[in-house]
Amino acid sequence: MSAPRLLALDARWERLSASRQAHCVRVADLALDLAAAHGEDPHFLYLAGLYHDLARELQPDDLRTEARRQGWPVDRYEWEAPILLHGPVAGGWARDAGLPLPFAAAIWWHTTAHPELDRAGRILFIADGVEPGRGAYPGREDLHALAFSDLTGAYRGVLASTLAYLQQRGLTPHPRLLAAHEAAMRTADGRGVQ
Ligand SMILES: [Fe+2]
Ligand SMILES: [Fe+2]
Repeated sequence: MSAPRLLALDARWERLSASRQAHCVRVADLALDLAAAHGEDPHFLYLAGLYHDLARELQPDDLRTEARRQGWPVDRYEWEAPILLHGPVAGGWARDAGLPLPFAAAIWWHTTAHPELDRAGRILFIADGVEPGRGAYPGREDLHALAFSDLTGAYRGVLASTLAYLQQRGLTPHPRLLAAHEAAMRTADGRGVQ
């Protein structure tokens, strides 16, 4: 990845609020530690963590426009709740900047997960869900600790807590999130898709 291409991401980074940057750094730090614990590439997972929320502060119409410009197949859930598109949009930017596809894809799927999410994607999804700045929610610290010894168990736990959060607020989960949860729960060997 050449420096000039990374600079394109740095320019977007500079426009994020300080609190968003702090969240991203915490996610990146945790993703790096989890990558090291589970034999994934810590450098690329650090970058995926750092840039996963680059599009989180775009306005809804800008998310729709940018997702379409990138060729993302915006579905009706994403159209009605464009905040869901901040993962796909940032993943597209990271891919265009040269982040290898498995790690750009981890950014794509960090909002909804995916029934076939790979290990890098699971690490980013978990790190985003359990980073210490998330505040107190039942089980966060346990899931944080579990992620180092049992990635699949932590992934299931973060999926379940995400669904519970949406349900409490009367929000409709994206079908991909439901499918991801079902897939993670039915893996017979308890290891899931690696
Ligand atoms: Fe996000
Ligand atoms: Fe995030």
